[in-house]
Amino acid sequence: MFATTIYKNRRAQLISMVGQGVIVLLGNDLVGMNYLDNTYPFRQDSSFLYFCGVNRPGFAVLLDCNTGEEFLAGPEQTLSEVIWSGPRPSLAHWAQKSGLAHWGSFDQLAHTLNQVQATTRPVHYLPPYRGEHVLKLASLLGLGPAEVEKNISVPLIKAVVALRSVKTGAEVHEIRQAIALSQQLYALLMTHCQPGITEQELYGRLQGFVLAQGSQEAFPTILTRRGQVLHNHTRDQVLAQGDLLLVDSGVCSKGGYSSDITRTLPVSGTFSSRQQDIYEVVLAAQAAGCAKIAPGVPFVDCHLAAARTVTQGLKDLGLMHGDPDDAVRAGAHALFFPHGLGHMLGLDTHDMENLGEDYVGYDQTFKRSSQFGLAGLRLARQLQSGFVVTVEPGIYFIPALITQWQAEKKLDAFIHYQALEDYMDFGGIRIEDDILVTEQGFENLSHNIPKNITELCGAMGQRS
Ligand code: GLY
Ligand code: MN
Ligand code: MN
Repeated sequence: MFATTIYKNRRAQLISMVGQGVIVLLGNDLVGMNYLDNTYPFRQDSSFLYFCGVNRPGFAVLLDCNTGEEFLAGPEQTLSEVIWSGPRPSLAHWAQKSGLAHWGSFDQLAHTLNQVQATTRPVHYLPPYRGEHVLKLASLLGLGPAEVEKNISVPLIKAVVALRSVKTGAEVHEIRQAIALSQQLYALLMTHCQPGITEQELYGRLQGFVLAQGSQEAFPTILTRRGQVLHNHTRDQVLAQGDLLLVDSGVCSKGGYSSDITRTLPVSGTFSSRQQDIYEVVLAAQAAGCAKIAPGVPFVDCHLAAARTVTQGLKDLGLMHGDPDDAVRAGAHALFFPHGLGHMLGLDTHDMENLGEDYVGYDQTFKRSSQFGLAGLRLARQLQSGFVVTVEPGIYFIPALITQWQAEKKLDAFIHYQALEDYMDFGGIRIEDDILVTEQGFENLSHNIPKNITELCGAMGQRS
C-alpha cells in the first residue's frame, strides 16, 4: 500500500473532477470456483485499489462530491471467521490506512445512497464487469440489472481515466518491480525451453516461479508453439526442434501493477534463416514504433510506423509488393499484423479496459477506424509523459485468414499469395516491451529482457 496521503489526494482530485453527487466504487469479492468457500485467487478491482489501496475482498467506498465526506463500507470479522481463517485487521484499520474518516456496514452505505436518491443529486458508478457487482449495485440502488448498465456514469469514467492514465514515480516503480520478476521469469523459460518439453510443463515452471515470488499472473499466460493463434490458451503441444515458442506473460507487483512481456524463442536455441528474417522484421517494426514515442505524438502514428516497417520488410522478403505506404493505407499489412501495436499498462494489463476502450484510447480527435487490423488498436490518442504503454508488433501466418483473403483476391496488388504457400506452417512471432513515455521521449522499462538475436540465443544457450 502507498502512503495514506496518496489515496487522499487521488480521491480529492476525483471528487473535484466529478463535481457533484456521490461516487460509489465497489471493491471485488471472493468468487466461488465450484462452491462458495472454494474460491478463485483474489484480485482487487483496480480502480478501488487505486483510490483506496485496500487489497481485501468485500469493501466499497462512498465519496460525496458536494460535502467531501468519505465512507468505507466493509466487513467486520465474525468469531466464526476468526476461528476458520484467523484474525484479520479491522474495518477501522483499513479506513485509517486509506485516510477515510468514516466507516461502517453496507446497510449504512445503502441508507446514505437512498437518501441521495431521494434528491436530484446523481449517483456515479463505474461499469461493473462482474455479475455480482451488477446485483450489488441493483440492490443498493433499488434498480433492475438492465437499469444498472444504463446508468453508468460517463463523467466518473472520464475522471478515472484521466487520473489513472498518468503514472506517478511510485507507480512506475511498481511496474518496474513487476518487470524485474518477468526478467527472472524469462531467464528461467529460456533455460528450460528445449525440444521434448511440453508447453504444459514449461507453463508449470512459469507458475511455480510466479507463486514462489508471492505474485500472480497478471493475465492468462500465452505459452505456445502456435504463435499464430493470437490468444492461444491451450498448452497441449510438445516442443520440437525448429519450433518457435511464443510466450506472452505478465506478473503482478506487490501493489498489484502489471508487466506485459512477449518473447518468441527458437526451441532449438537458434533460428532458421527464414525464422531469423521474419524475426528481424518484427524487431525493426518494434524499434520503428518506439522511435516515434514522445509526449504529444498520437499512438496511432507509432502503430502506422510499425505497420510500414512490417510491410517494407515483407516486401524485401518477397511476400508483399507494391508501394508500402499505399499498402498500409489499404490495410494489407493486417493480413500478417492483425492487431494493434499496444495499449496502456498499469494496474490492469489492458489498463482500464473495463471502463471502455474508447474512453481510454480514443477521444474527440482520434476516432476508432473500422479497417480490419486498425480497428483492433486499443490506443490511438496523443501520448503524455507518464503514460506506460506496450509496444508489441507481430507477424503471423494464419492459414484460415490467408486462405480467405486469397480466395477473395483481397488486396492482391500488395500481397504475394503464391509465395505465402511456403509459410502456412510458419506460426507467428510477437515481441512486446513496456515503455514509459518521458518528457524527452521514452524509456524501455523491459530492455533488460533479451530480444535481439545474439542476446536471445546467448541466453538460450545457457541451458541446464
Ligand atoms: N496478452 C495480451 C496483450 O499482450 O495485450
Ligand atoms: Mn502481452
Ligand atoms: Mn500487451
